[in-house]
Amino acid sequence: MSTTKTTRKCRNLMEEFILDNSQLLEINRRFLNELNRGLCKRTHDQADVKCFVTYVQDLPTGEEIGRYMALDLGGTNFRVLLVTLKAHHEADIKSKTYAISQEIMTGPGVQLFDHIAECLATFMKEQDLLEDHLHLGFTFSFPCKQVGLTKGYLIRWTKGFNCPGVENEDVVELLKDAIKRRGDISISVVAILNDTTGTLMSCAHRNKNCHIGVIIGTGCNACYLERVENVELYDGQPGKPYVIVNAEMGAFGESGSLDFIRTDEDKSIDRASMNPGKQIYEKMISGMYMGEIVRLVLLKAIDKKLLFPNCGKQQLQRLAMSDSFETRFVSEIEEDKEGDWTNCKRILTDLGLSKQPTNDECAEVRYICECVSRRAAHLVACSQATMINKINEGHSTVGVDGTVYRLHPKFNEYMEEKMKELVNPNISFDLMLSEDGSGRGAALVAATVTG
Ligand code: BGC
Repeated sequence: MSTTKTTRKCRNLMEEFILDNSQLLEINRRFLNELNRGLCKRTHDQADVKCFVTYVQDLPTGEEIGRYMALDLGGTNFRVLLVTLKAHHEADIKSKTYAISQEIMTGPGVQLFDHIAECLATFMKEQDLLEDHLHLGFTFSFPCKQVGLTKGYLIRWTKGFNCPGVENEDVVELLKDAIKRRGDISISVVAILNDTTGTLMSCAHRNKNCHIGVIIGTGCNACYLERVENVELYDGQPGKPYVIVNAEMGAFGESGSLDFIRTDEDKSIDRASMNPGKQIYEKMISGMYMGEIVRLVLLKAIDKKLLFPNCGKQQLQRLAMSDSFETRFVSEIEEDKEGDWTNCKRILTDLGLSKQPTNDECAEVRYICECVSRRAAHLVACSQATMINKINEGHSTVGVDGTVYRLHPKFNEYMEEKMKELVNPNISFDLMLSEDGSGRGAALVAATVTG
């Protein structure tokens, strides 16, 4: 691949984005340390990786049946779903996506929950469900401290959400209140879950070796199946051997564990974000930030005259704007066949950087994209290898979902190749693409709870 070419003008610029195995092994060690600190009562409050107890302890058998409603908030889209579990590992899903405007994402919490309840009511009306009483699983993909399956206190907003009045509140209660205010639907909220839990559950529905659920989308996180005896904060019923732990690994690095590899771009993205100092690992990986990292590197390369040397102020106008280089451009550019550059040329021209980018310029831009996306995949590989090694079963399947993982043409390859080097040789693993974790997974949690 083009990352190995030594003639790249941007080679030096990108060096710090290429992590060698000794750095990755150091990250592994630090990540395991934070994970253990999260699990341990004494150190939990200071730990970066909180390891929240989810109270989901039963993996699906595949024979679940019934109709459930699900809500999915916290990814690229907000969705309402009707999931019919049909035994034999099958499910039928009807869903609708609703927009969440910027104004709602940062407006008062009550307005957000009223909007959610309104979408739910509209959907139920369209599906002719207003006369039914259904159980609902709420996929709420933000860090929550759960107290049982139907109580989850929001610790902090992430991913550009910032609605006042929700942090430290029980979001299930806020949802129930909004439903009550409307008075036109009859629903029991039976479970709140994270999207990673939904991913694990939906993969486990088809594959009993699934022990981990990962999201590499707008945000980044993972959950895994841990032995109850290792979860000091577990206060549920005794008797069940395992519980799913929501690592909230996006917060890794907040105490400085990743400072030895953070670049100037990582630091400026953090400074300009809505939550400076928070979600450091997530900001080096996820879709909300990947395009922005590339944009900042491009600006640096142009400034150093390594790229588009004749580019003046006028041509830089677009690229100078935050978020003008979208994360999907990274995927599109890496999709180009070597020597073709159709997507890359279109993107660079649309950005106004050049009327006719040369093949060499395209190769440089693609190299920058590859270094940034590969670093992200290798950083995810670190945490995943750590979890697999910690679980220490003969074989672990990792359920994966998220727009970056789905849309980027090489993320899976980058991640898997590095995991092979980092997972203990006596353990085998595979990556499994989740099918609608936030919908089917939510219904499965609702089914295991009520069934
Ligand atoms: C949230 C997690 C979530 C992840 C992926 C992060 O920002 O804190 O709860 O699982 O995004 O959606």
